[in-house]
Amino acid sequence: MFSVTCIAPVNIAIVKYWGKRNEELILPINDSISMTLGTNELCAKTTISASEGFQHNRMWLNDEELPFEEDSRLMRCLKGVQRLALMNGSQKVSLSWKVHIASCNNFPTAAGLASSAAGYACLVFSLARLYGIPLNEELTTIARQGSGSACRSLFGGFVQWHRGVLDDGRDSVAKPIVSAQHWPNMHVLILVVNDERKKTSSTNGMQRSVTTSQLIQHRVDKIVPERTENLKKAIEARDFQSFAEITMKDSNQFHAIALDTYPPCVYMNDVSHAIASFVHTYNKTMGTVHAAYTFDAGPNACIYVLKENVAKLLAAVQKEFPNDSIDSSQYLRGLPVSIDSPESNIEKYANSATDNPINTAAVHRKAIGMLNIQPKSLLKYIIHTKVGDGPCQLSDDNSLLINGLPLSH
Ligand code: PMV
Repeated sequence: MFSVTCIAPVNIAIVKYWGKRNEELILPINDSISMTLGTNELCAKTTISASEGFQHNRMWLNDEELPFEEDSRLMRCLKGVQRLALMNGSQKVSLSWKVHIASCNNFPTAAGLASSAAGYACLVFSLARLYGIPLNEELTTIARQGSGSACRSLFGGFVQWHRGVLDDGRDSVAKPIVSAQHWPNMHVLILVVNDERKKTSSTNGMQRSVTTSQLIQHRVDKIVPERTENLKKAIEARDFQSFAEITMKDSNQFHAIALDTYPPCVYMNDVSHAIASFVHTYNKTMGTVHAAYTFDAGPNACIYVLKENVAKLLAAVQKEFPNDSIDSSQYLRGLPVSIDSPESNIEKYANSATDNPINTAAVHRKAIGMLNIQPKSLLKYIIHTKVGDGPCQLSDDNSLLINGLPLSH
């Protein structure tokens, strides 16, 4: 029996992928750009064993066995990597042997936290390791067929997924822009509003947007081409101001298109909107842009912030969205940070927030009133992470399978 165990990161889109031109091959209508997050805080882990003695292909996700269907995305990824192995892999592991796959995430699955991206990237990377195929652009075309955004999780740092123009999708590949080491002080706070499964899957949502939104074509033709070029320049120059503006505008446009979809896709909730308003007020008070939000197909906020500004921002978040558990590692997860005690800037922020036209406190109160919940439970928890590297292989003692079965069996 041969086994490999690998981890792969989550990526968060800055210019969003939304809409397919080919459902089967998962070919997007526009380019997208993402940042890869640190695997210590968020990752998928996968073990794949191959043996002559296995009767069937089998797969367990978070210890639950899933059907391994012939026409599934899972099977498409397996066959895709096996096809590459046939052409240029090593012959160490026979392609006729069945595989057993176990995968888990160190964060909630399907909560709008890009778990499918990390999961499929990890699957494809692990299969490539099993069959002796080096990481290359072609592998990204296979990960793409698991979950579109998964192709971006095969690289660290900042990554662009080129939509491509060919019908067979050969040129719809992800390519690294710069590595994580280029902008190491780029940090992220994920404000988890809700970690339950999302209502409208991204597959259904984007399908509906492509057929009903009257704004989406304008985004594809006019907005994204210019935005991706400007974003790449901002990343290359480590220009946080431009980076932040593009990030927030693109998140807003994606949700505008979600609302322009008929029937609409509503992913942000009142707390999400309160967070967006809070970020604008915070930046205004600081006199410069210190924080940039982005929201995917769910209510959770991802806030980009430079390392040197994390503590101040967190203090302001705690003031606006207080939580008694702020000192607990269950509430504030991930990279350690000591929150600034309220001092001049935060006081300045708090004072201006009450007489600011974009009054976050008012939005906040409205959210609390409408949701009829305790203000202290508006955020479930916060994950602090930063830009990170791509997938990697772990040593065998990290295996999720023993003799081809999950540890719990
Ligand atoms: O790859 P999917 O099908 O999970 O779609 C991802 C869609 C967004 O997260 C909203 C945007 C993106 O580019 O990741």
